[in-house]
Amino acid sequence: MLAALGSLAAALWAGLRLRTVLLGAFAFLFIADFLKRRRPKNYPPGPWSLPFIGSFCQLGFEQPHLKLQQLVKKYGNLLSLQFGDLNLVTVTGLPLIKEVLVHQEQNFLNRPMTPIRKHVSKNNGVIMSSGLNWKEQRRFVLTTLRNFGLGKKSLEERIQEEVHHLTEAIKEEKGHPFDPHFKINNAVSNIICSVTFGERFEYEDSRFKELLKWLDEIMYMETSMQCQLYNIFPWIMKFLPGHHQTVFRNWEKLKLFIYCMIEEHRRDWNPAEMRDFIDAYLNEMAKNSGNAASSFHEENLISSTLDLFLAGTETTSTTLRWALLYLAINPEIQEKVQAEIDRVIGASQQPSTADRERLPYTNAVIHEVQRMANILPLNLPREVSADTTVAGYFLPKGTILTTNLTALHRDPAEWATPDTFNPEYFLEKGQFKKRESFLPFSLGKRACPGEHLARTELFIFFTSLLQKFTFRPPKNEKLSLQFRMGLTISPVKHRLCAIPRGDAAE
Ligand code: HEM
Ligand SMILES: *[C@@H]1O[C@H](CO)[C@@H](O)[C@H](O)[C@H]1NC(C)=O
Repeated sequence: MLAALGSLAAALWAGLRLRTVLLGAFAFLFIADFLKRRRPKNYPPGPWSLPFIGSFCQLGFEQPHLKLQQLVKKYGNLLSLQFGDLNLVTVTGLPLIKEVLVHQEQNFLNRPMTPIRKHVSKNNGVIMSSGLNWKEQRRFVLTTLRNFGLGKKSLEERIQEEVHHLTEAIKEEKGHPFDPHFKINNAVSNIICSVTFGERFEYEDSRFKELLKWLDEIMYMETSMQCQLYNIFPWIMKFLPGHHQTVFRNWEKLKLFIYCMIEEHRRDWNPAEMRDFIDAYLNEMAKNSGNAASSFHEENLISSTLDLFLAGTETTSTTLRWALLYLAINPEIQEKVQAEIDRVIGASQQPSTADRERLPYTNAVIHEVQRMANILPLNLPREVSADTTVAGYFLPKGTILTTNLTALHRDPAEWATPDTFNPEYFLEKGQFKKRESFLPFSLGKRACPGEHLARTELFIFFTSLLQKFTFRPPKNEKLSLQFRMGLTISPVKHRLCAIPRGDAAE
């Protein structure tokens, strides 16, 4: 009896102790978290945040963007938010965006290293790297893009050839409803593939189709709840299944594909005759082989090639898909574009960028598509590389900065009816007119290095497709402008009819 009582007391005591220990540990973590998150003096204002998870709850899960809009109204154009360990500041309005991306750009050239990034690409490649690695890789990318654009077969000619393949493939649909997604994706991707790998892929190539599917999955899964949770709690999430695991798997598969391409290049590499980006890179690696500090090594070769492939495929093809969708929904605008093309180029001559100035309406429509589609709504994030002051607020090193391009592209002070598709914003007295509040490619030293290529592709693909086809909604189907949120904003799955025009009809 006594023994039993004794053990009961011991058990109670042990239980109590365990509770105290747990309570103590929790209190400790709470205080540690509080101290860690204490905002420095003059830090941009923002809503209160909970320990560990930060501002997650204030944003709500339903319509975080609307909630954010209210917060910007309340706290101003520099708004601070917190997610786990990540301190985020969003920048709104053209003057402040220019301050950050141009006037003070020296302190904002880095990219944040989130746990997902750490897992998939470390500090390699161009898009997400920082420091010297980024500088060297970016410079090399810019030079080779320029060189291969001026090579034997200019990029413009390659795009024109690809247009020919694309129009043939679309003609095969005979005006019946079809989903344009993967044909357009493939055609656009072939341009950057010809730069990086020196080859294009047939639209029926099942291996390449699968590759594009992995890329597409990465695009929409990387912003999923599981991936965001991975960024906050990597040590738990790495043991759980979910979208983040698919993203990791797909990255590995894409890297393996690039690796195989590189091996093929190595087999018949001839430094005297450079065919493409990989050849040029192998050359640069050979030049730097004695230099252990050089960033031109195999891991960077894989990552930089993959970055070009990724950035060169998804953005431009998504924009082109939005373009066809907007024109199918706005037939009057489509007719005006076609009338201009017919008048200036005619039905059979191949459009080229030399025609751009003579096609102001068409050019304005392409710009308006980019404004409305707004495919990278928060630009790509930057990280503050040294303690800085912006607009009187203190931004400590390590703060993550996002510039709100949506607010710019939908600013009612700049665009009278911001949510309506209206190419007139980019026209003045019948001539094309540039707009300052239009920054789809961003600004400054870290702006998109593919802007020239992207604009050339958009112009030639768009003009050629409208020269040959009229795009219409399928009978009894209503097209919508609903979007899928991911790394880019893209149209939801839809079908179009491409009716051959004039000469193209035979
Ligand atoms: C409509 C098409 C495109 C849009 C809207 C777009 C937009 C952007 C934006 C907003 C950035 C981030 C810039 C910043 O941080 O300030 C970026 C970066 C980048 N883009 Fe593009 N882009 C497009 C097409 C392309 C193409 C065709 C290529 C292929 C060469 C490309 C390659 C890159 C690369 C490599 C980066 C990373 C640059 C760096 O971090 O230094 N982009 N792009
Ligand atoms: C960006 O601006 C848009 C439009 O004003 C708004 O809806 C959105 O919530 C803003 N996002 C951020 C992160 O500030």
